[in-house]
Amino acid sequence: MLLKSTFTPLFTVIPTKTKPLKFSRFTISNALTQQCPQPARQNASSSTSLLLFHKLPPTSAYIHLPFCRKRCHYCDFPIIALGSSCSTPKNANNDPRISNYIETICREIKATKLNSSNSPPLQTVFFGGGTPSLVPPQLVSSVLDSLSSKFGVCNDAEISMEMDPGTFDATAMKELMNLGVNRVSLGVQAFQEELLKACGRAHGVDEVFEAVEMVKSCGVENWSVDLISSLPHQTPSMWEESLRLTIQAQPTHVSVYDLQVEKDTKFGGLYSPGEFPLPSENQSAEFYRMASRMLSDAGYDHYEISSYCKSGYRCKHNSTYWKNKSFYAFGLGSASYINGVRFSRPRRLKEYMSYVQNLEDEVMKNCTEYGSTIDAKDLAMDVIMLSLRTSDGLDLKSFKEAFGDSVMLSICEVFRPHVESGHMICLDEQRRNFEADEFISEKAGFLRLSDPDGFLVSNELISLAFGAIAP
Ligand SMILES: C[S@@+](CC[C@H](N)C(=O)[O-])C[C@H]1O[C@@H](n2cnc3c(N)ncnc32)[C@H](O)[C@@H]1O
Repeated sequence: MLLKSTFTPLFTVIPTKTKPLKFSRFTISNALTQQCPQPARQNASSSTSLLLFHKLPPTSAYIHLPFCRKRCHYCDFPIIALGSSCSTPKNANNDPRISNYIETICREIKATKLNSSNSPPLQTVFFGGGTPSLVPPQLVSSVLDSLSSKFGVCNDAEISMEMDPGTFDATAMKELMNLGVNRVSLGVQAFQEELLKACGRAHGVDEVFEAVEMVKSCGVENWSVDLISSLPHQTPSMWEESLRLTIQAQPTHVSVYDLQVEKDTKFGGLYSPGEFPLPSENQSAEFYRMASRMLSDAGYDHYEISSYCKSGYRCKHNSTYWKNKSFYAFGLGSASYINGVRFSRPRRLKEYMSYVQNLEDEVMKNCTEYGSTIDAKDLAMDVIMLSLRTSDGLDLKSFKEAFGDSVMLSICEVFRPHVESGHMICLDEQRRNFEADEFISEKAGFLRLSDPDGFLVSNELISLAFGAIAP
């Protein structure tokens, strides 16, 4: 059975966005105030890293820029709809809603307490939304300046921005590149006019092609396309066409999300998953298989449940989430993960503004200052859930060293039938395939979900592991 697990962003509003994976089971309520000194970080061997990663000072920052022209019918992100007159950063230039928000985010960055005087510079920055490409480049620049003066940003940092077709021109693209933006994530979603309309997108297919051309002609080397499958009235041939046109555009990265019908959205009021005009579960699974097959055939590595890339173009920022590493987050509704604590900021603008004011007034604890210890079971479940999303899979040796023999063995026992059925693959330490009957020997190095059949039932298999760890 297909479980809707492809769309699970970890950086905003965890309780709603991760529903299928039951985040409440492993929300970590407190954390370690002691951070690892730099030498320990550098020396962290692969076998100790599972226990260390979440304690290390963050080297990634997610910045939520919530402005959109209008809300898409499937979207329940914390956004602020500006209206269609605001279709480019030029029109948005003098919009006080944007400049006031950017000023607040810069204040939030400044008011964030560092737990150590030698915190490392940022290696990744991700501007997500909303529609970050609606924010005038000079305001993006002030956010980057704030990050730079607070944390430092590495010269070779990956700086990504989500950009919507129809919201930027070549001048804006070049200005952003001059600021250091070196990775673009284009929200395409579909290549059919009727589907874009049905989704309430503020752009059409022509603008998709224009945006692709713009990104390429400006010389952005590292860029991604977002697509959504299982949209209402989407047919297999439409999906095949969207994949084909994406491949023809030659992005270095593609994200394929299965539509998640969120309760408080227009789609939530209109549709029920699995019922017409949405595809059946079997049809959704077919869409997933088709994406996996077509993109793999075109030379993309399916490196995470919903992510594909050309060699060398994995998204470094998202990889911090999947490796359970800590990260900062700033802005409306965004969720940071620091010292083992996932902390969500308010989703409403007024409350977010007061939150930042309180931070500055030191009325409330800073999100970097919570707690002291972390529950090992919660951590083990985080590690399983996140690592099984990736083609790298679960590192059994590190897992055993971090959580002990018996937990590792019970996980292996639970997964044994699924290795036998082919939904999971066991690899040795050199990442060579194991025969199923050799499984659970000393030679076992990694466990991963098979592609596509194992990825399709990831939620079920992850839940089984949770049951074994916390019956
Ligand atoms: C933060 S959104 C990007 C917003 C950006 N303004 C855009 O629309 O392209 C990141 C991606 O999440 C995906 N997404 C958002 N809501 C979704 C949902 N309910 N189900 C599946 N995918 C969703 C879309 O593919 C979107 O491009």
